[in-house]
Amino acid sequence: MRRSRKLVAVLAATGLALAGAVGSVLLTAPSAEALANGLALTPPMGFNNWNSTQCRPEFNEAMVKGIADIFVAKGLKAAGYQYVNLDDCWAETKRDGSGHLVPSHVRFPHGIKAVADYVHSKGLKLGIYTSAGTHTCNKAGFPGGLGHEQTDANTFASWGVDYLKYDNCNNQGVDAVKRYTAMRDALKKTGRPIVYSICEWGKNKPWNWAPNVGNLWRTTGDISPNWDRMLSIIHANQSHASAAGPGHWNDPDMLEIGNGHLTDNEQKTHFSLWAEMAAPLLIGTDLRKASQHTFDILSNKDIIAIDQDPLGKQGVVVSSSGGLVVYTKQLANGDRAVALFNETGTAHKISTTAAKAGLRAAASYSLKDLWTKLTRTSTGSISATVPPHGTVIFRVHAN
Ligand code: GLA
Repeated sequence: MRRSRKLVAVLAATGLALAGAVGSVLLTAPSAEALANGLALTPPMGFNNWNSTQCRPEFNEAMVKGIADIFVAKGLKAAGYQYVNLDDCWAETKRDGSGHLVPSHVRFPHGIKAVADYVHSKGLKLGIYTSAGTHTCNKAGFPGGLGHEQTDANTFASWGVDYLKYDNCNNQGVDAVKRYTAMRDALKKTGRPIVYSICEWGKNKPWNWAPNVGNLWRTTGDISPNWDRMLSIIHANQSHASAAGPGHWNDPDMLEIGNGHLTDNEQKTHFSLWAEMAAPLLIGTDLRKASQHTFDILSNKDIIAIDQDPLGKQGVVVSSSGGLVVYTKQLANGDRAVALFNETGTAHKISTTAAKAGLRAAASYSLKDLWTKLTRTSTGSISATVPPHGTVIFRVHAN
């Protein structure tokens, strides 16, 4: 694997001149083993409608355009959010006479290309969804991509789609690596840069194979806006840190900030730990109805910078005992993002040290609290009293 990835990189760098020289056999063989699409060098940021609308009628053209408008008007685009993604239920239940997917006439009366054009006109990108099965997950029976990979990839490319989430329902027991690789290759053949999001819920240990196949892969089943579910997803996702890197990310699912009954501390934990784990930041609330508080959390630039750090390292657990967990994430400039996470229902002091968090030896360290924005100096201790279900996250700099 490693050798062929290197070869692809070399071939990509040397380009067409080499293509003529070595012929197509050498060029096609390694490309079947690597993604190398140059996309998602930092975790994708954007929006997906599923967590807020599921399949309800309010998921339609007006919503998608409205979200794009809000991305611009409320500074989310400036903060780095880019992809406006459609989830399940955007299609008609039948393909057309020539086997092509058809957008729902009710939800998207002007088609998907018109929506993509609108989103692009705002300087944003459009994502779409289908399943690596005969049908998508919704019981209405929308057609899936299995056996239609190239036709559907071509359709998406012709509409100007920039991102595909490829789900796992109705997969007929066909090998997952085969199914997801087929769509990877079909997307590549379109020639359009399309971020490829694998959504097989961690069922086939994607952290072992998906870095060569997709730009991101779900590590778990679906998130829901409650504490227990979020906690179990955090526990599952944190184990796969070594698989993450520029162009290939663990995906603990979309954000629930602004949804359900998560407390303020829980929502801040959600955002802090998704950033600490270099997760995709896909907003899952209907921004047309969101509170200023929701915008404030989603717009925390210091925390977004942790997520989007170009080194592309996922944070790892330094210590964990009795529900008090310390993570550290290596950053490009030598700093570390240190998160002190209190899983318990009562406030606790959580402590670690700069050395344990992987910082170089120094006479002093600056600790910037990325929620309060206060900076303090320490000779090595990193500690805070953390509220129930809360997270204190510091950017630590060795002076
Ligand atoms: C699956 C996915 C979800 C969502 C739904 C849509 O459950 O995991 O993220 O896309 O399907 O039906």
